[in-house]
Amino acid sequence: MEPATKLPLFKVSGLKKYFPIYKGLFRRQVGVIRAVDDVDFTVLPGEVTAIVGESGSGKSTAARAAVRLIEPTAGKMELEGRCLMTLTPSALKALRKEIQIIFQDPYGSLNPRKKIFEAIGEPLLYHQLVKTKEEQQERVAFVLKQVGLSLDHMGRYPHQLSGGQQQRVCIGRAIAFHPKLIICDEAVSALDVSIQAQILNLLIELKEKFRFSYLFISHNLAVVRHIADHVVVFHQGRVIESQRADKLFAAPQNPYTQQLLRSVPKIYPSINSPL
Ligand SMILES: Nc1ncnc2c1ncn2[C@@H]1O[C@H](COP(=O)(O)OP(=O)(O)OP(=O)(O)O)[C@@H](O)[C@H]1O
Ligand SMILES: [Mg+2]
Repeated sequence: MEPATKLPLFKVSGLKKYFPIYKGLFRRQVGVIRAVDDVDFTVLPGEVTAIVGESGSGKSTAARAAVRLIEPTAGKMELEGRCLMTLTPSALKALRKEIQIIFQDPYGSLNPRKKIFEAIGEPLLYHQLVKTKEEQQERVAFVLKQVGLSLDHMGRYPHQLSGGQQQRVCIGRAIAFHPKLIICDEAVSALDVSIQAQILNLLIELKEKFRFSYLFISHNLAVVRHIADHVVVFHQGRVIESQRADKLFAAPQNPYTQQLLRSVPKIYPSINSPL
C-alpha cells in the first residue's frame, strides 16, 4: 500500500517523560512517575495518527513532550527531518508555527477579554504572517469562513459563542498559521455528541483541503475510528499496539486493545450522519 512508502512528517522515538515524586518537609525526591516511558510513533504526511488509551495513560504528556511544550526526559523528535531537541530556541520557536495544538476546552484556550478578531488576528501580526491591517482583516475573514463562522462573529467575545463555535475559533486560529501538523488533544471530547460530529467532520474537511496532518488524541474509539489512518494504543505510559486503523479495528492483537474495543458503543449514529 502507498502510505508505507511515505517518509514521516513527524517522527518520535524513545520519548520519555518522568515526573519526580517529592515527600516530606525537605521535599526529598522519593521516586518518579513514568508518565511516558519509551514510546515511538510517527505521523505520515496528510494522515491522521491517533493516540488512544484510558485516562492517565500518558497521551497528553507524550504530545506535549513531543513538541517540547514540556521538556522530555529523553527522546528524539523530528519534523520533516529537523530534530526538535537540537534546534536553537529561535529555530524551535519558528518551527512551532508549523505545529499547532487544539485543546479540549476551547473557552480556556481563548482570552475572555479578546474579541474573536483579535484571537485569530493578533498572533498572525505578531508572527508576521500578515504585514498590514488589511491583510490581517482579509486573513481572519478567510479563516472564519473555512471554519463555518460568519464575519459578524469577529466582533464577539468568546463567552458570546457556543462551545462548538468557540472550538471552531480555536481550529481557525490553528489553521491560520498554515501548519503542517495539528495536534488535537481531546478536541471534541467536551462537546455535545451532535456537535462532536460536526467538529469532527470539519476537521476532516479542512485536512483534505489544506493537506496537513493530525496527531489526534482521544479516549473515544468511536471518534478515532472515524478519523484515524493509524492508531497507537497507550497503556501506563507505553505503546502496547501500533497499527493501521483498518487492521486494528478489524483484528486488534493486544488483549488490552481488544478490551478497549469491546467497550466502544456499537451504535454511534451522529458521527456518520451528515452535517
Ligand atoms: N505535571 C505533572 N506532574 C506530575 N505528574 C504528572 C504531571 N502531568 C501528568 N502527570 C501524570 O502523568 C500521567 C499521565 O498523565 P496524562 O495527562 O498525560 O494522561 P492522559 O492519557 O492525557 O489522560 P486523560 O485522558 O485523562 O487526559 C498521570 O499519571 C498523571 O498524573
Ligand atoms: Mg490528556
